[in-house]
Amino acid sequence: MSKDKLIIFDTTLRDGEQSPGASMTREEKLRVARQLEKMRVDVIEAGFAAASPGDFEAIRTIAETIKLSTVCSLARANEKDVRRAGEAIKPAASGRIHTFIATSPIHMEKKLRMSPDQVVDAAVKAVKLALEYTDDVEFSAEDAVRSDIDFLCRIFDAVIQAGAKTLNVPDTVGYSIPSVWGERIHSLIERVPNSDKVVWSTHCHNDLGMAVANSLSAVLAGARQVECTVNGLGERAGNASLEEVVMAVRTRSDIFPVETRIDATQIVPSSKLVSQITGYPVQPNKAIVGANAFAHESGIHQDGVLKHRETYEIMRAEDVGWAQNKLVLGKLSGRNAFKTRLKELGIELTSEEALNAAFARFKDLADKKSEIFDEDLHALISDEQSVMEQEHYKLVSLKVCSETGEIPHAHIVLFENGAERSAESDGSGPVDAAFKAIESVVKSGSDLQLYSVNNITSGTDSQGEVTVRVSRGGRIVSGQGADTDIVIASAKAYLHALNKLHSKLERAHPQV
Ligand code: KIV
Ligand code: ZN
Repeated sequence: MSKDKLIIFDTTLRDGEQSPGASMTREEKLRVARQLEKMRVDVIEAGFAAASPGDFEAIRTIAETIKLSTVCSLARANEKDVRRAGEAIKPAASGRIHTFIATSPIHMEKKLRMSPDQVVDAAVKAVKLALEYTDDVEFSAEDAVRSDIDFLCRIFDAVIQAGAKTLNVPDTVGYSIPSVWGERIHSLIERVPNSDKVVWSTHCHNDLGMAVANSLSAVLAGARQVECTVNGLGERAGNASLEEVVMAVRTRSDIFPVETRIDATQIVPSSKLVSQITGYPVQPNKAIVGANAFAHESGIHQDGVLKHRETYEIMRAEDVGWAQNKLVLGKLSGRNAFKTRLKELGIELTSEEALNAAFARFKDLADKKSEIFDEDLHALISDEQSVMEQEHYKLVSLKVCSETGEIPHAHIVLFENGAERSAESDGSGPVDAAFKAIESVVKSGSDLQLYSVNNITSGTDSQGEVTVRVSRGGRIVSGQGADTDIVIASAKAYLHALNKLHSKLERAHPQV
């Protein structure tokens, strides 16, 4: 039986990035976009062009680079946003504008202060304007879950007539349940004139833990695009997780009349990259990409799996990209091998100078750690990119004394705007002492909200990757640092976050 194509629309770089502290630099976004292209995602929502000049530039760079996926920008249904989105996607081989407006009574009255007629008018105008830039225009009815179905039919009919090709039905607040959501999609497809001329899409949030289930129910009801994020990243409880949607459809092909073009072996590498760049760890028992997703702990399960793997396994770990954690480079690897492997990982350093600096760090790391894995290379490049980002504060050196029965003490030397500054501090542990010494120089006045350490690969010689999240005046930023010495990794992560706070880059939130 021939199957319909299910379009995978990834919004890790837009909705995912709206998670507190998950904002990415242009280089980081480009690395994720390259990985999404490698995974053969159909549409990459690269950002919200009107949010800030930085977001605009990131989308434009992605549009210039990505060839095998459609590159999309979000735009509120107003002239300025749509024009910014249109300019940002201009260089794309295939570009889409995704315009949206809220349609629920509560959003129209309290947030937009617009009448239903004004909302329909704005949606139609936005779609028509977007068509001046691309013929691939998507329209979303924000908060469709709490919108009146008759009004949804009216606005969807109007935007189809205006020329929208994809109609997205979001459960913005994660309120629905699978049977109700499937029914809503079904009635829209039944009732809206010319519904067979467009692609119906769904976009579900996970507030009640049902984003994937609701998305799949929408697919059974006729949706042919699912909007999702890697690791289910996203504001609050996140979005539908890409890997779960893709593998559900594939594993239960007896139930779903659709197939995706995703290269599933790129799922785990994508998950690791997104987690590493955003600092959002993946819970060990997370389906598909959690460290324990394929680990059989109990003796009975192990016995079964060894005799015949399908006794307990419905998917193969290698099919989703586990066990690709291969040794890639070592101490004797040359500059060329290093450059080639980076390219295979979708990392292209922009200048010879950047490549030389990264190679020097690689050699340093290889002296401390004989086996270098892909994950080490990603962490190394992230570290290198944060150093290249014209940082205000740079770590020069850190000395920490930690001894049984003694109070830990740290001595730090930083560059601030080219001038050397040093400080010392005691602390309850070596990391606390280092952070206090840093804060006594930086005087950021920020609160540390999260501190976590993970080993990048296995073994005690592994690099430790530290993530911190700090907040000041309602702004939340995260920082990452990696090193075989976890106190140094911690200082790097803290400085990375403080540099972001210092940069004061403000961006608009599309839904506020
Ligand atoms: O959740 C939502 O409604 C959105 C829209 C902008 C599509 O993210
Ligand atoms: Zn959303």
